[in-house]
Amino acid sequence: MPHGEDLPALGIGTWRMGEESARAAAEVAALRMALDIGYRVIDTAEMYGAGGAESVVGDAVREAIRAGLAREALYIVSKVLPEHADIAGTIAACEASLRRLGLDQIDLYLLHWRSGVPLKDTIDAFEILQRRGWIRHWGVSNFDIDDMRDLLSAPGGAACSTNQVWYSLSQRGVEFDLLPWQRVHQMPLMAYCPIDQGALADHPALRKVAERHQATPAQIALAWLMTQPGVMAIPKAAHAVHLRHNWQAGHVRLTSVDLAELDRHFPPPARKAPLAMR
Ligand SMILES: NC(=O)c1ccc[n+]([C@@H]2O[C@H](COP(=O)([O-])OP(=O)(O)OC[C@H]3O[C@@H](n4cnc5c(N)ncnc54)[C@H](OP(=O)(O)O)[C@@H]3O)[C@@H](O)[C@H]2O)c1
Repeated sequence: MPHGEDLPALGIGTWRMGEESARAAAEVAALRMALDIGYRVIDTAEMYGAGGAESVVGDAVREAIRAGLAREALYIVSKVLPEHADIAGTIAACEASLRRLGLDQIDLYLLHWRSGVPLKDTIDAFEILQRRGWIRHWGVSNFDIDDMRDLLSAPGGAACSTNQVWYSLSQRGVEFDLLPWQRVHQMPLMAYCPIDQGALADHPALRKVAERHQATPAQIALAWLMTQPGVMAIPKAAHAVHLRHNWQAGHVRLTSVDLAELDRHFPPPARKAPLAMR
């Protein structure tokens, strides 16, 4: 990260968690298992389950800390909705997120996507939150390169830590300009939907590469992202076997033959395309 911290190239997402109270205990158990396996970065948002996902994360983190995990070992990411992104709204949204998470501080707080709220106002709010100690770092999500240029030209905008966007084998548009730009600015890219919400887990082109590594297609999709410098993937998984497989994807070493085959099936972008969004 730009502030000198090393983060693992794999975290865990929480979209679709916290939506039904009947599933909450199983979701808390899944996140607890993730922490036991070794995941340390958890991505959530006030939007997910209308705050329900943050509550699930909070319960899992509280249990893990009670069992001996150090809070400092964790890196909790959450996001403010664009409609809350003015100064007062961001501060209120962060306070509510902290309450649901049961934490004193969010490690990385992102603007979920850009809206009509002036960037300067959201940056001012992030700076206030940093001074209060409620967040350590801030960043953005779903920003294309022009948005990033606007951000960096706004007062304080250069302090942005990351941009979280859809990046996967099927969505390589960011390689055209955004990812190289972020590398130049030493700003890591957080790849959401890294297995296309499960769709890549069944892709025939990935199955062939996976067989060579005695791996699964989802592991190949994640291993491929982890070969990209300055990229972190945050797959969501609630099933124990998925959690374990995804973690083990870090051990898959793709060869130049694998990478060429993946490029043939999922070609890199030849021209600029609008940023993919979910
Ligand atoms: N900033 C943004 O605008 C934005 C947008 C979208 C997502 N995100 C973040 O990024 C995270 C990841 O994206 P996502 O959840 O949309 O999609 P994803 O991580 O690409 O896919 C999640 C789906 O894949 C399944 N899965 C996970 N591991 C698997 C494996 N090894 N084999 C087969 N299936 C597997 C999961 O099933 P189970 O859950 O049943 O295990 C789940 O249905 C989100 O959870 C969220 O935190 C951010």
